[in-house]
Amino acid sequence: MSQSGDDSRETTSAASTPPTSKVVGVRRLKEAMAKPASTRIFTVANQKGGVGKTTTTVNIAAALSMGGLRVLVIDLDPQGNASTALGVPHRDNAGIYEVLMGSHEISTVVQKVAGFPALDCISSNTSLANAEINLVSMVARELQLKEALETISVNYDYIFIDCPPSLGLLTVNAFAAAKELLIPIQAEYYALEGLSQLLETYAVVKKRLNPSINLSTILLTMFDGRTRLANDVAANVRTHFPNELIDIPIPRAVRVSEAPSYNQTVMTYDPLSPGAIAYMQVAREIAERGKAKDESTIDSTFNSNVVSIHYKKDGEIA
Ligand SMILES: Nc1ncnc2c1ncn2[C@@H]1O[C@H](COP(=O)(O)OP(=O)(O)OP(=O)(O)O)[C@@H](O)[C@H]1O
Ligand SMILES: [Mg+2]
Repeated sequence: MSQSGDDSRETTSAASTPPTSKVVGVRRLKEAMAKPASTRIFTVANQKGGVGKTTTTVNIAAALSMGGLRVLVIDLDPQGNASTALGVPHRDNAGIYEVLMGSHEISTVVQKVAGFPALDCISSNTSLANAEINLVSMVARELQLKEALETISVNYDYIFIDCPPSLGLLTVNAFAAAKELLIPIQAEYYALEGLSQLLETYAVVKKRLNPSINLSTILLTMFDGRTRLANDVAANVRTHFPNELIDIPIPRAVRVSEAPSYNQTVMTYDPLSPGAIAYMQVAREIAERGKAKDESTIDSTFNSNVVSIHYKKDGEIA
């Protein structure tokens, strides 16, 4: 698939809309994405901060939902960035913290993400910062999330857990609950530093808590193909993880970083921008890699309309 290939078409022209904040179009993908045989639960983790965990989580989740799949995002970071990017309340309402502490049933804290056909989010809130401490004294403290997820995972094709930048009990809970690990790697200096610590945690969890977890996916983020450094990092990752690396890097792109301040993913903020196109291609690749062997699971009644809320200015090219 070419880097510039668009995967969708705009069904409403934005040309005549005024430069105000409003819905300017609806997007519909040409083809549905393949359903997995059973729910795929991804932990998106890297204890290095700011490498694109949250951006990757929300945009791949949004893209898969646009592809007709049922998707849940769990914001397991007290910073609440995933909740912000998906535009769901996360200040005063109960979220994943209350579930981990056993005060709320998980089904009662699921929120719909506006504008998407089947995208849900369980928000974090600031109390989640206390979870690392409060979990310590609990029985089966590493398995709280896994046990909670068991009751709702059948409702989804994909579940993504956005981890904080640490390897504490929250991240261990995510590792224990997931079937797959997705590691975003920023293609820059020191990119691979700390990776061995992450892989060690993965190995310990796999041995002791969750033998079925699999490091299935590595994604290069904020990639600038013009620099030799980025290409060197890519080659290095490819050598070590030839099967796990998705060979479509996410470019560094300004629209990707603008989208959260409009409580949006870039998939709706600017669906034709290079970052959105790359995330769409990566989502389709992930769906292809994990598709059910039985082709009939592709939805023949596919009709995924997604509201595109893009704040275009006059004459601006998306
Ligand atoms: N492809 C991209 N192009 C430009 N900016 C990006 C891109 N991906 C992420 N960013 C920006 O980089 C910053 C870090 O990204 P993000 O919050 O996704 O990382 P993170 O790993 O979740 O961070 P943390 O460790 O704090 O949770 C954000 O400001 C985000 O908008
Ligand atoms: Mg984050």
